[in-house]
Order: sequence, then structure tokens, then C-alpha cells
Amino acid sequence: MLKQRVRNKHLTNSSKKWLQRQLNDKYVIQARNDGYRSRATFKIMEIQQKYSIINSNSVVLDLGASPGGWSQFVAPLCKHVIAVDLLEMQPLPNVDFIQGDFHSNETLDKIYKLINGRSIDVIISDMAPSTCGIPKIDHLRIVNLLEEVFTFAKQALSFGGALVAKTFQGGGSDILLKQLRSSFRKVSNFKPKSSRKESSELYVICKGFLGNIDQIQP
Ligand SMILES: C[S@@+](CC[C@H](N)C(=O)[O-])C[C@H]1O[C@@H](n2cnc3c(N)ncnc32)[C@H](O)[C@@H]1O
Repeated sequence: MLKQRVRNKHLTNSSKKWLQRQLNDKYVIQARNDGYRSRATFKIMEIQQKYSIINSNSVVLDLGASPGGWSQFVAPLCKHVIAVDLLEMQPLPNVDFIQGDFHSNETLDKIYKLINGRSIDVIISDMAPSTCGIPKIDHLRIVNLLEEVFTFAKQALSFGGALVAKTFQGGGSDILLKQLRSSFRKVSNFKPKSSRKESSELYVICKGFLGNIDQIQP
């Protein structure tokens, strides 16, 4: 296939580079052809194919859901999806959307209201913190985000449930990984083929939640 070039003199070099990459990316093209909202859909597809985290009875929480590629793929496979994002998201069947910051109490209250005393079977998070380019600070932000998702998971996940969260190479602290390993039967790192090679992004896949050991009294 002939590579498309961008020749718009009003664009900065970095915008041209980004646009050119989008126009020539095989997953962007495939997402458009298959009617998916984002190329990210292929990442959750690969995760589901390899790890079978979702089944027809699962209640799924999709964090960082917009524009909705993950929810779009997951919703027909499961019982119900609750999707959360700072940005707007167009409606999807079988998906309740909450626009808000995952860190805010208001958003957490809305999630708890929707699950109505039940627990969540699978948490999938494609959220990434905003980066500032200073490696030490960016590293801390990634670890903090993963820690917050994990803290929430310990409160809300069903026994045997699964957690999938985006992280970055070198982004998981040893302490956090140790905690994850003591809370789940199996913890693996996975880099989907559809994740850009030049990106250090990867996903931590945690299966078989063992329950909230923080709540077990000695
Ligand atoms: C890579 S995109 C997600 C793409 C999505 N998985 C899909 O398939 O279309 C990451 C999303 O995380 C959201 N996000 C980042 N931090 C967030 C936060 N604290 N609370 C809620 N959403 C957040 C961003 O707004 C962004 O839409």
C-alpha cells in the first residue's frame, strides 16, 4: 500500500508526523473499516483472546473509556458495562457512562450507586496520567494511578475477579507488584501486538482476585 504523506504548511512538524502516522497505521485503518471507535479496541480484543477475562455474567468497569473502543467490544460479551471518563462519550448499548474524574468521590459514588450493592467482576483501565517529560515524576504518576486503581479494586472487585490496567515499562514499582501478586492468583505483563512498538505501554493482567486481605482481621 502506498504510504500517505501530509503536506499541509499550516501544521507544525509534530502534528504532520502524528497525522501521517494515523493515516498509515494498519490498526487505525482496520478500526475504521470494522466500525470501531478507536484502534485501542484491538488491544482489549487481544487481551480477551489470550486471557479470557470476561464472560456473559461479568459486570465490567471500563476506566478511561472514551471514545469507547473498549466498551464497544466488551459490551456484547458481558452482562453490563459501567464506563468512566473525563471526556464525553457517545452512548453505547449495555453501557452506563459516567463523565468524571476517577479520583473524585463524586465519580466513585456514582459507580457504587450503579452497582447497587453488587461487586464488579472485571475492571479494565486504559487510563494514563498526563506526563511532564521528567522521568522520575512521570514514573511516580504512573505508579500512583495504578495504586489508586488497585485500592479501588480491593474494595469493589468480586472474589475471583480480574483487573487489567495500563502501565509502562519500568512503571510498576516492586512493592506494588508484590501487593498485586499477593491479592491475585496470577499476575502477568502483556504487550499487545496492536500496542505501538515505540510506546513503552504495557498492560498488567491480574486474574483470580483472592479477596481484600486488608479487611481480614488477625
Ligand atoms: C487511551 S484513552 C482510552 C481509549 C479507550 N480505551 C478506547 O478504547 O477508546 C485514555 C482515556 O483515559 C481518560 N482518563 C485519564 N485520566 C482519567 C481520570 N483520572 N479519570 C477518568 N478518565 C481518565 C482520558 O480522558 C482518555 O480518554
